[in-house]
Amino acid sequence: MKKMYITTPIYYVNDVPHIGHAYTTIIADSTARYFRLKGYDTFFLTGTDEHGQKIEQSAKAKGKSPKEYVDEISAKFKNLWDEFEISYDKFIRTTDEKHKIGVQRAFEKMYQKGDIYKGTYEGHYCISCEAFFTKTQLIDGEFCPDCGKATTIVKEESYFFKLSKYQDRLLEWYQTADPILPKSKKSEVVRFVESGLNDLSITRTSFDWGIKLPKSINDPKHVMYVWLDALLNYITALGYGEDEKLMYYWPADYHLVGKDILRFHAIYWPAFLMSLDLELPKHIAAHGWWTRNGEKMSKSKGNVVNPKEVADAYGLENFRYFLLREVPFGQDGDFSQRALINRINSDLNNDLGNLLNRVIGMSEKYFNFTIDSKDVKKYHQDELKEVNIIVSSLEKYIKKMQWHRFLEELWKILSIANKSIDRYAPWAKMKENKEDEAMATIALSANILAKTAILLHPVMPKTTQKIANALNFTIDKNSFEKFIENLELLEKIEIKKVPPLFTKIENPLLKEKKENLKKEEKKKVDGIITIDDFFKVSLKVGTVIDAKEIPKSKKLLKLKVDLGEDRPRDIVAGIKEYYKPKELLQKQVCVVANLKPAKLMGNLSEGMLLAAKDEDGLTLITPMKPKKPGTPIR
Ligand code: MSP
Repeated sequence: MKKMYITTPIYYVNDVPHIGHAYTTIIADSTARYFRLKGYDTFFLTGTDEHGQKIEQSAKAKGKSPKEYVDEISAKFKNLWDEFEISYDKFIRTTDEKHKIGVQRAFEKMYQKGDIYKGTYEGHYCISCEAFFTKTQLIDGEFCPDCGKATTIVKEESYFFKLSKYQDRLLEWYQTADPILPKSKKSEVVRFVESGLNDLSITRTSFDWGIKLPKSINDPKHVMYVWLDALLNYITALGYGEDEKLMYYWPADYHLVGKDILRFHAIYWPAFLMSLDLELPKHIAAHGWWTRNGEKMSKSKGNVVNPKEVADAYGLENFRYFLLREVPFGQDGDFSQRALINRINSDLNNDLGNLLNRVIGMSEKYFNFTIDSKDVKKYHQDELKEVNIIVSSLEKYIKKMQWHRFLEELWKILSIANKSIDRYAPWAKMKENKEDEAMATIALSANILAKTAILLHPVMPKTTQKIANALNFTIDKNSFEKFIENLELLEKIEIKKVPPLFTKIENPLLKEKKENLKKEEKKKVDGIITIDDFFKVSLKVGTVIDAKEIPKSKKLLKLKVDLGEDRPRDIVAGIKEYYKPKELLQKQVCVVANLKPAKLMGNLSEGMLLAAKDEDGLTLITPMKPKKPGTPIR
């Protein structure tokens, strides 16, 4: 049986999933579904990239341990892919023990081969891209050429990988195997390699959050460079260095990546593989970026498209179709609700949905839902020939990852059906008592719909299932072979009435940014807040180290609370009626730590205590077990 191994990049867990992540994942998912449908033994890998300085910093900023933080965000990716019914075979995390072992084995092998040596790295580092640069590569000698952010100067002991040694073999590979898709991206990579490759720093010593070097090397202060760790996921997921049963899937057939990470995949990765004496991937396919109004999406601009919101509003499968159809693979594309609505109304509702309605309607009216294809060849030879040529030509687009072309061509067969109905007008033929001709036209259209359903199944699995139900056939390997590869026709078709597949959309279903804000405000009034709102509040455990009454105040006590900071906080609390100062000493409390300081009866208060009050009185909230002062509450 033929095998197929497809991967997405593993996503950094410093950010929640956005449309860019969904795009790569949905292309990979559709590709995996296509080859599975054809009967290939397919393995589809996705996952999360969880080590490195960037993640360590993000965790710190959220007041969390790296592990706690990566567990939380990795789950968000996995949950979204599950909700989107992404058909991955494995979700790898670089914090998985098996992955760590595989990476260490690979390091050992490269070291034993003489491809790794120790030295000192001196240069610039972009934490956001986790990439090294020489000063001349930077913009204005300071800013990252990829993301534009300021780089940091690094000077530290490091192990290096002899990347330069592989320069010629890489260049030869680009020419002979032609692995880079789309072809237009190849010259970019070739130019970069031709300009000369420096050896690559592959360990860091200035932070901890990474995989340690193998014990045999005995250099505990080093952790692996996150890109070495991350790229190796493509083989550790198959058990590299451990139980290698799944290594049967190697080499990858398609590594899907965004254009920003093509260099890592087309240069470093094959060089690592050469060093490990493993085969090289068949294709590295780089897609473009989704933008908003021509601008890069970013959290700070607040223009990031949330894929879940879009899928919930417009339908997941409509969204999948749009992502694949709208933008030529490799080019950037602008996301707008208008463009999405146009695709739904025109391609899906008019061309596809209405065709099915017409076929169902006419077969009901004229043939009591039962038609057959016996006269299709007789009356529609030309149309059939055209359909067959298109159907037979489609796979090459998928093999080149040109899903937009695949869909564009597929829609041409729908157009043949729609035009045939208009031109041959079965209703007129019925009036002329040419029943065979009328049935032939309806059957031609039904067959075109069936072929479309099979071919579109990888992109819109559930919608196409509805078409198959209506036409009473099954979408599987056999029907693929029969109706797509062998170009056969359905024989007798018992048609079933099904509800319309799509609804026409008049106006955008999601409010744009400004209205979104209004919605947020309304939510606040209604007492509902988002998780982001909640996380704006910094809650911490504190220990009361001093408590005094405030003279003349019936309600207030003045406390000093240790929050693990340079000095204790002064907190004024309205608890005098319920607690004596002495009772509070050394007690632990829960503190709102980022409240704007305020003066109460002339006393500064730098926080607030959490308490619960009912008819029996007030009690302070305290942790069930003692916690270090300053421990965040989540
Ligand atoms: N962790 C690395 C990949 C390691 S693979 C061994 C990484 N992660 S990422 O989360 O930053 O990006 C993952 C993918 O999302 C990349 O392919 C990137 O191109 C893609 N996208 C991020 N933003 C995007 C858009 N706005 N549009 C389309 N894809 C974009 O890089």
